[in-house]
Amino acid sequence: MSRIESKAFRKKITTAEEAAKLIKHGTNVGFSGFTGAGYPKETPVALAKLMSEAHGRGEEFMIGCFTGASTAPELDGSLAEVDGISFRMPYQSDPIMRTKINAGISDYCDIHLSHSGPQTWAGTLGKLDTAVIEVTGITADGELIPSSSVGNNTTWIEAADQVILEVNSWQSIDLLGMHDIYEGVALPPNRVPIPLTHPGDRIGSTTMKIDPKKVVAVIETDDADRNSPFKPLDDESRMIAGHLLDFLTNEVKQGRLPKNLLPLQSGVGNIANAVLAGLLEGPFENLTSYTEVIQDGMVDLLDSGKMKVASATAFSLSPEYANKMNDNAAHYRDKIILRPQDISNHPEMIRRLGVIACNGLIEADIYGNVNSTHIMGSKMQNGIGGSGDFTRNAYISTFVTPSTAKGGAISAIVPMVSHHDHTEHDVQVIITEQGLADLRGLSPQKRAKVIIENCAHPLYKPMLQEYFDHAVKVANSQHTPHDLHQALSWHARFLDAGTMARS
Ligand code: COA
Repeated sequence: MSRIESKAFRKKITTAEEAAKLIKHGTNVGFSGFTGAGYPKETPVALAKLMSEAHGRGEEFMIGCFTGASTAPELDGSLAEVDGISFRMPYQSDPIMRTKINAGISDYCDIHLSHSGPQTWAGTLGKLDTAVIEVTGITADGELIPSSSVGNNTTWIEAADQVILEVNSWQSIDLLGMHDIYEGVALPPNRVPIPLTHPGDRIGSTTMKIDPKKVVAVIETDDADRNSPFKPLDDESRMIAGHLLDFLTNEVKQGRLPKNLLPLQSGVGNIANAVLAGLLEGPFENLTSYTEVIQDGMVDLLDSGKMKVASATAFSLSPEYANKMNDNAAHYRDKIILRPQDISNHPEMIRRLGVIACNGLIEADIYGNVNSTHIMGSKMQNGIGGSGDFTRNAYISTFVTPSTAKGGAISAIVPMVSHHDHTEHDVQVIITEQGLADLRGLSPQKRAKVIIENCAHPLYKPMLQEYFDHAVKVANSQHTPHDLHQALSWHARFLDAGTMARS
């Protein structure tokens, strides 16, 4: 049976090649997609071909590419490959896209995910011309059944002049009922409280509304989402997860957290997934999650009964788990809620619910400032994503990382971060395989002691202690002691010699 029940929409069925011709050079396109889930699979590839042909004729053809967050090779990869993206926001993790950003070919506006919708509405990112949205189906009365991510879809559909829909029959039709599309967000001064007080609350509808006049093309696809599998758990990630679980256990013991904790947010990447795996073996029951993405580890927690409900904006599942979700979407429908990212990442909700945030980092400094985005100060890795939305507003904000990178040549704990994403004011707990630094209530100098002592790798611990002692002397023990001549010397040494370690 066709996934397009509406006759009016069926009349607009065409090919991706024809649809792509409706997108013009110099325009902005809002694509669906959040991690490797729910992104359009065929229009971007067809568009990249048109761009490549235009470039071959010596013509310009680039677009502004707006998404929910990162996507997959068919979107970021194919458009970046042909130098087709002049402007990108708000988050990416594709290797080709990253290269083009760092080569200066694509301008990248790395903003908080919760800001991407409001800034589009406000017009500060330019006019949105086209929306290309993957959906699971179209109902007889012309409403859209969302697919495996919601992201910014409702914003793109409302803000764009024209909409191209990809109806993907690979997505389970049983996703209908899993989504909660709340459309009550507004720009100031018209904002009202969002009526959500528990991660499991449903405050919107299960489908997205659309003005049919805007729909210029409908394409039928049958293509799988493309997320990478998670790395198998190693000793390092198990140790990091163990330190976090011990910390949470103690918080419960001290009466600072309820027995079932508070809603958990788990960031992207393998370590965050390992933390979820740790929770599976941990003592906590009746857990809830208020987060951005549902990873494999969260599905395991739901399966085990340890977690009751998980709220997010997208799946970020390995191929194995994505297939499992497709086969059993009806079963998960009352345990998982997918919301617009305006809601999943909303500071109001994160603060009200008291979320426990857990995100990865690239480097942290001895005073607790965190760099999540830049390698050696200059090179963009992925972007800030939702880490700022959650860290700044969390009840407890934690960061997890191995203590070294690149086989030990880089210390994740440095004298001064080479780029700031999360300041010492927002970072409460840092965890490496070496241990955990609880920074709450500590002055900068006390923070430095506990970070060096508990989190630094043994190779770098004496060097960090030496820097700190020296800085205290040079700065005459002021509030946050630094020797500005040496503060970034570790990074400079790595760039010169390929290692932060002293020979
Ligand atoms: N200096 C240089 N390179 C470093 C580094 C450092 N201090 N720390 C890590 N890296 C490199 C790794 O070697 C790896 O490189 P590779 O791809 O060439 O192998 C890469 O950065 C990713 O590191 P990895 O250890 O695999 O980490 P991860 O998958 O856990 O990701 C972040 C870590 C910080 C990149 C990731 O969490 C991120 O993008 N965070 C920002 C967005 C975010 O937090 N979103 C979630 C909000 S809900």
